[in-house]
Order: sequence, then C-alpha cells, then structure tokens
Amino acid sequence: MRISVIGCGYLGAVHAAAMADLGHDVVGVDTDADKVAKLTAGEAPFFEPGLEELLGEGVRSGRLRFTTDIADAADAEVHFVAVGTPQLPGADGADLRFVDGAFDALAGVAAPGSLLVGKSTVPVGTAAELVARLRKAGSTALLAWNPEFLREGFAVADTLAPDRLVYGVDDERATELLDRVYADILERGTPRIVTDFATAELVKTAANAFLATKISFINAMAEIAEATGADVTTLADAIGHDARIGRRFLNAGIGFGGGCLPKDIRAFAARAEELGRAESVAFLRQVDAINLRRRERAVDVAIELLGGSVFERRIAVLGLTFKPDSDDTRDSPALDVAARLHGLGARVRATDPYGIDNARLRHPQLDYVASAREALRDADLALLVTEWREYRDLEPAAVAELMAVPRIVDARNVLDPSAWRAAGFAYRGLGRS
Ligand code: UDX
Repeated sequence: MRISVIGCGYLGAVHAAAMADLGHDVVGVDTDADKVAKLTAGEAPFFEPGLEELLGEGVRSGRLRFTTDIADAADAEVHFVAVGTPQLPGADGADLRFVDGAFDALAGVAAPGSLLVGKSTVPVGTAAELVARLRKAGSTALLAWNPEFLREGFAVADTLAPDRLVYGVDDERATELLDRVYADILERGTPRIVTDFATAELVKTAANAFLATKISFINAMAEIAEATGADVTTLADAIGHDARIGRRFLNAGIGFGGGCLPKDIRAFAARAEELGRAESVAFLRQVDAINLRRRERAVDVAIELLGGSVFERRIAVLGLTFKPDSDDTRDSPALDVAARLHGLGARVRATDPYGIDNARLRHPQLDYVASAREALRDADLALLVTEWREYRDLEPAAVAELMAVPRIVDARNVLDPSAWRAAGFAYRGLGRS
C-alpha cells in the first residue's frame, strides 16, 4: 500500500521504517530538514536499537523515503499522523497544535476516500473534533485512531510485533484499510480491538495512567519502607509473585520520566477536569507527586551519605537518560537529580553512554565526561541513576579503587548491596534499609 507518516520523531520514524519493512511504499514527512536529510541517508536521528538497520533496508529497497513537503504524500491511501503532543507551557493539558496542523495540512492534500490515522497520544474527544475540522475544510477523507504503545529502547520490536492493535473507527472502510496495512501482523494472531474513537483514545491514556500508577505505588511503598526499615525490593518480589499483581513495573527508584508518562498523566487529569470528572482521576495528582518526591529523596540520601552537605563534594552521576537503551533525556529523573546536586554546589561529573548530547542541551552548566571511569575518578560519591547494563555490571572493587571514598547511591535498586558493602562501600538504595 502507499502510506505516508506525518511527523518523524521517536514514534513516526520507527513507524515509517516498520511500514516499509512490512512491504509498503512509505513516505515520511517532517518539517525539520536536518532530520529528513539524516533519515534519507538511512541514519536514525536518535538512538534506538535496531532502527538504523531497518531504516537502511527501507531506504535501499526504494520503499522508504522522506520529505519536508506534505504534497509528496498526496497519493498515499493511508496517512499516519505521529506528531508530538507535548505538555502546554505553564499548564497540564496537551498542546495539540502539531496534531491540528498535521490534519489541516492533510485536509488539503489527502485524496477523497483515503484514510487519516491518528497515532499520537491525544486527550479523549480529539478525534471527534478532528472529523468536524476535516469536514469544515472540505475533506471527505476517513479518520481512524490507532494508538501506539511502543516503548523506547524496544520501539522496533514493539511496532513490528505489538501485543495488540487498537482501531478507533466510525466507518467499516477504515477497519478494512487498517487490516490491509497490518495484514502480516494480524496473520500472526495479534489481538485486534475495533472500537469507537473515544475508547481508542482512552485505551492509550488509561494504559499509561495504569503504568505510572504501578510505579508510583511501589515508590510509595519505598517511602513507607524508609520509615520502617523494610526493603521495598523484597516487598516487590513477594507481592509480584501474585499473578494478579505481577512483578513487572514494580521497580522502585527515582521514578518515571520520558516523553510520555509524565505529560500523559497530567494531560489526563486536565482533560478529566474539563469533562467535570476531576475526582475520577484525582489520584493521578498523587501519582505525579510521589514520582517527583523520589528525585528529592535521591538528593537527600546523597546529602546524608556525605555527612550533611554536598557543597564542593565530587559526585559521579552515572546515567542521564530517563531509562537505558535510549538517548532521550526528556523529563529525565536522572538528569534532574544531576542538575539539583549541581544547584546545591556539588562538583558533579555526569556521564551516559548515549544521552550526553541531549543532556547538554537541557543543562549546559553540568560537567559531562565520556566514561564511567572518568566520572568516578577521585569522586566522593557515586550515584547510579539510569540502569544501563554497563553500570549494573560495574565491579565494586574496581570502582572503589577509582574513587576517593567508596560511597554509592543505587537510585534504581539494581546493584547487589552485599557485594558492594563487602568491597568497602557505604551503599544506599532507595526504599531499602
Ligand atoms: C511508555 C509506555 O510504556 C509505552 O507503552 C508508551 O507507548 C509510551 O510511554 P517509555 O516512555 O518508552 O514508554 O518508557 P517505559 O519503559 O514505560 O518507562 C517509563 C519510565 O518509568 C522510565 O523512566 C523508567 O525508568 C520508569 N520505570 C519503569 C520505573 O521507575 N520503574 C519500573 O518498574 C518501570
């Protein structure tokens, strides 16, 4: 099929490459000329395992190309909209200007009877408004909402082998077209849920709200553990054995960040307020507050380990991205903790395998070094804030040799406390005695 993907960020670039991999003829459209140039050369504009290979194959096969001109998308049968929906400046709601802009542009070029498919995460009610907007602009194109559940770091696998497909539609022809797009994926027995616009939009919002709540639940237990001497990691293991609860997404630490969960729960709370249902998701305000408190807690533990002040102390910060296997530092708890310590007068040396460039754009005041070795050398304290494999695999004895004094805050609870203590470390996790 002829497919266009409007917006080539974390979501759109992966989606475009995946659609080409499924055998479709794909054009990706983005307003950023640098990004388009990179993608055209088969280069991923951000770090995502497996993406560059997929892009390269697509571009070489001739089935995948990129452009800044939306008119190049005119002959597509299906247009996917994958633009960002960031938090509004100074408010909690989602900023829909890129979504509106993409649909306005498509209204001018999309052929009659073609299908416009929203993939961006939007407040419930957006699709219905977009139909009205399209009709007002004279477009007869069909609309569907087909939320995306990909995780950064696993984006390629999540797109090519999703655990479910959700179609929000108001016309059977939309379902038929989407079934053709995803034929290979559906053939493997992937569950497909066909529903209305509002449910499809809410599926995505609810999924992210649930995941955020699960993380904040265990972080709330970490706070109680800290007050009682209990160990939150053992607690998570024990309750996780109950299949109804499950162990995944129960890792206590410095909490969630990234371009999705934080802004999506805020946008959900804001939308519920508009709907007169603020109380239904009022708990999301607590979820957010618990999450942000964990960053403060990491800083407090660092202060405690250093005897009451971090001023002028040398601190190695290991990790800057919001999670491993990504270069994304949007709303990253790790970067936030590094910046807070710097703000308190600590001599922070921060490192990350892939996140330094993005971190520097947000916090140019920090001292960035290329390796954990450099960060740790002569440090008074180490903080593990993003659980990259290479930091999890650090040898306590070798780290102790590098540091001025062996002290470590394991803010992701991924190290073995006994091994680090045996090597002479003052070790502190979060929510662990
Ligand atoms: C998330 C959703 O998982 C995905 O389905 C949606 O499409 C986009 O938002 P992503 O932002 O890539 O994906 O990251 P995710 O793996 O969900 O992690 C989010 C944050 O939660 C990270 O900062 C991670 O470190 C943190 N986290 C995750 C925890 O603190 N504890 C956990 O147990 C799990």
